[in-house]
Amino acid sequence: MPQITLTSDELMSLTAYLLTLKQAETRTPEQIGAALFAVYCNSCHPNGQAGIGPKLLGVPADQVAQKVRSGGGGMPAFHTAELSDDQLADVVAYTQTLR
Ligand code: HEC
Repeated sequence: MPQITLTSDELMSLTAYLLTLKQAETRTPEQIGAALFAVYCNSCHPNGQAGIGPKLLGVPADQVAQKVRSGGGGMPAFHTAELSDDQLADVVAYTQTLR
């Protein structure tokens, strides 16, 4: 096995990188949900407010989950190929933080 020698700068960069991985791993469902929401939902429900779609503040979790899977009334349905059950759970968790 070849020896790997790192300068102290390289070692610092590597440490910083490893710390970002640790942070990514400890993101909460709400944080992951917020990122997914930005991609899939925000264009029509800007920050959970009314836009093309209605505001989502105060909509119960089960109602959000059901609407995302079924769509209708101008909203596309999101199937598991686009948004896995885990991802949907995270999006729903995020919507429950909207105030
Ligand atoms: C292309 C625009 C569009 C996108 C993208 C979209 N929606 Fe909607 N959404 C709508 C429209 C329009 C309605 C109203 C549908 C109706 O009247 O039945 C709606 C309705 C809803 C409702 C029902 C609200 C209530 O009061 O019951 C929920 C919940 C919802 N959307 C969540 C989401 C979530 C979560 C996402 C992302 C995964 C999303 N939407 C993506 C347009 C969109």
